[in-house]
Amino acid sequence: MRIAVAGGTGTVGRHVVDVVREHGHEAVVLSRSSGVDLVAGTGLDEVLHGVDAVVDVTSVMTQSGKEAVRFFGAVSTNLLAAEARAGVGHHVALSVVGSDRAPVGHYAGKVVQEELVTAGPVPWTLLRATQFHEFAGQLLGQLGFGPVHPVPVMRSQPVAAREVAERLVGLAEAGPAGRVPDLAGPEVLRMTDMVRSYARATGRGGVVIPVPLPGRLGRAFRDGTLVPGPDADRGVQTFARWLAELPG
Ligand SMILES: NC(=O)c1ccc[n+]([C@@H]2O[C@H](COP(=O)([O-])OP(=O)(O)OC[C@H]3O[C@@H](n4cnc5c(N)ncnc54)[C@H](OP(=O)(O)O)[C@@H]3O)[C@@H](O)[C@H]2O)c1
Repeated sequence: MRIAVAGGTGTVGRHVVDVVREHGHEAVVLSRSSGVDLVAGTGLDEVLHGVDAVVDVTSVMTQSGKEAVRFFGAVSTNLLAAEARAGVGHHVALSVVGSDRAPVGHYAGKVVQEELVTAGPVPWTLLRATQFHEFAGQLLGQLGFGPVHPVPVMRSQPVAAREVAERLVGLAEAGPAGRVPDLAGPEVLRMTDMVRSYARATGRGGVVIPVPLPGRLGRAFRDGTLVPGPDADRGVQTFARWLAELPG
């Protein structure tokens, strides 16, 4: 198969590209650093030629709902229109568990993305996953200043990005399936503990300051809105095992 990976240079996207190649398929990477800007949407027709499936794992680092809606709206609109023109038969989208129950900030963009995909012109599969183990590092990179790491108070059931990538590639291979069971990790953890352990394991040290975020987003972080129900599939790699296996 020829599988295009939108966001193929990102945290989960890199793993998707690896798995696509390990399964003997051809991977086509769509990202700004590989010359494709999906917000502008130019030059897509040429790169989608002969593509069987597109896996969309693009993202924008923002907690502004307006910015997230603009980004995910533009990327999905441009990708789906180009896929329809190129005759791509399958669009695989990755969303976040609970985003529809807290459609604010980043999640406002995910809700718009889901609406565009499920009502769109291309047969689709939609997977929602929980925060990646890697999210601890993303938060540390985003919010840390010096040795002080403010971290939102948040309950999460994190999953390894590699396991999410394996699921996404399996879905791309299997063909359009609509909404599929959520994917979470093996255990519920506190984000503050995850970031503290990540900072220690990567030699950053410092002090984690728990920050209860205000408003609807803060409540969703704290009250388990982003933790899936019992019918979700579970990955096997724990956060501790993932940390222990990080390259030194
Ligand atoms: N992180 C999590 O814990 C988590 C959990 C569940 C679901 N998700 C979802 O998974 C998806 C991927 O998240 P991630 O954390 O892996 O993202 P990420 O590491 O921030 O990577 C984002 C990717 O999007 C590409 N990109 C950004 N702007 C672009 C543009 N204008 N045109 C083309 N490509 C663009 C980036 O490449 P360039 O910079 O080269 O353009 C990069 O490859 C998101 O939809 C997110 O909502 C994330």
